[in-house]
Amino acid sequence: MSATNDKKLIVGNWKMNMNVHESSIFVHKLSKEIAVHRDVEVVVAPTFLALQPVSLQIERRQFKLASQNLYWRDHGAYTGEVSASQLRGLVDYAIIGHSERRHVFHEHDKDIRSKVQAAIRNGIKPILCVGETAHQRAAGETTDVIHDQLIGGLANVTSEEFSHITVAYEPVWAIGTGNNALPDDAKKAARSIRRQIEHLYGRKSAESLRILYGGSVKSDNAASYLATEGIDGLLVGGASLSVHDFSVIVAAAHDMEND
Ligand code: PGA
Repeated sequence: MSATNDKKLIVGNWKMNMNVHESSIFVHKLSKEIAVHRDVEVVVAPTFLALQPVSLQIERRQFKLASQNLYWRDHGAYTGEVSASQLRGLVDYAIIGHSERRHVFHEHDKDIRSKVQAAIRNGIKPILCVGETAHQRAAGETTDVIHDQLIGGLANVTSEEFSHITVAYEPVWAIGTGNNALPDDAKKAARSIRRQIEHLYGRKSAESLRILYGGSVKSDNAASYLATEGIDGLLVGGASLSVHDFSVIVAAAHDMEND
């Protein structure tokens, strides 16, 4: 796992969309649209089923793969789960603690923390998702929620291991709603995340941490987040299912680096 923190990171989370065949066709089309940029790292997170075939298809300088989840035990009697050790070598990243995992599948910080550790143990870089619900936001609890989720997810991660972590700020109310957060909200959240990381891991770790924004990122608003202080990339859901939109978003990241 090498440090690539100076690059913008664009992650497409396909969620439970596209079968293996469709995923393969999609990646083929995407590979024609997205140029290899040294300054932008592009990651796609298809269904578990498609990871293996897609991994044989892609040029890793062009795309990398992420799993959308993983299980924290390495093997054993855990029917239906996929472990970090099974994903080892196949994916570079794993999305961990996504709000759908937290809120639909009732994952708690304890599970998320074990998953973060399992990923690191298996050479997979965790993308730890944090963010508040609309209710928590209305109650003025955004900073506290993020704080608790960071503490919960990162407990036992050493300073050395921390260099492999990416944090995605994804306000729950902005995910899949078209109701995206203002760049200024993302800036404030990134600032408070960095402040907390500085407190936990020191200034260097805080400065080199990559923070992504996610929540209704589209081709027409991506640039505004990429230009936001403290935001180093994007976690894209719906818009990553369109070859055109996702390539526009990647191109925006490239343009930003070259301005
Ligand atoms: P969205 O999803 O872009 O469709 O809002 C983002 C995410 O869930 O990561």
